[in-house]
Amino acid sequence: MSATPDSNFRLEQACASDDSIQQVHAQLQKTKPEKTNGYSMLPLALLGLMCSAIFFGSIYLAHYSLRFDPLVYNEHANRAKPGAAKVVALTRAQLGKKVFNMTCITCHQATGLGQAGLYPPLVGSEWALGDPERVVRIVLHGLNGPITVKGTVNNNVMAPLGETLKDEQIANAISYVRSEWGNNASEVEPEMVAKVRAETASRKTYWTAEELLKIGK
Ligand code: HEC
Repeated sequence: MSATPDSNFRLEQACASDDSIQQVHAQLQKTKPEKTNGYSMLPLALLGLMCSAIFFGSIYLAHYSLRFDPLVYNEHANRAKPGAAKVVALTRAQLGKKVFNMTCITCHQATGLGQAGLYPPLVGSEWALGDPERVVRIVLHGLNGPITVKGTVNNNVMAPLGETLKDEQIANAISYVRSEWGNNASEVEPEMVAKVRAETASRKTYWTAEELLKIGK
């Protein structure tokens, strides 16, 4: 039986050696378009541009942001004459106004007069103007129960603010309270707040007026 060309082909395919297969494959490989090696230039340049933007951006922020500290940031600084750059050093009380307006104002009001029967006044208050040892304690751990302010008994609760405010913010806010609305008492330093904070670190509850009267003078 003589083989047809077709069956010849099949025969050849069936007994194709590894060698011949590899040859065929090698030929096929040759015709493939060459693979591009590495990255193309445009995305690489964009990546570099982005990296340098982030790099310079972070250096700029590190230099000029002052760590975004609200105590340092002062939008009222005089920028009118760039030549005569004069750093206006704000007093504790001036810095404290921001803290007061952020925190204390909701209850004690912008006038410092509070709200009768709810929030006692800070204006002319013997507590606000008295021993800072007591005022700092009130702000750190809060106040609960009856307290006589300017002859009127107030019986409410002031929440502790020691967790939310830093020593410096507390010192500034109290300094503001003690010198605003005609009040005229000494400034309070952050070191003093730190000292009281350390002394009362184990305290977990609000102060009472009775307790505070035993502290300081
Ligand atoms: C959530 C309301 C509230 C906030 C916020 C608040 N207080 Fe008070 N504060 C009170 C109340 C209420 C009392 C009286 C508590 C009582 O009756 O026992 C009080 C009492 C005081 C007193 C003693 C009494 C007086 O009138 O002098 C001082 C001082 C004081 N607060 C200062 C501050 C300062 C400073 C801040 C901000 C750092 C502040 N308070 C934030 C509600 C508040």
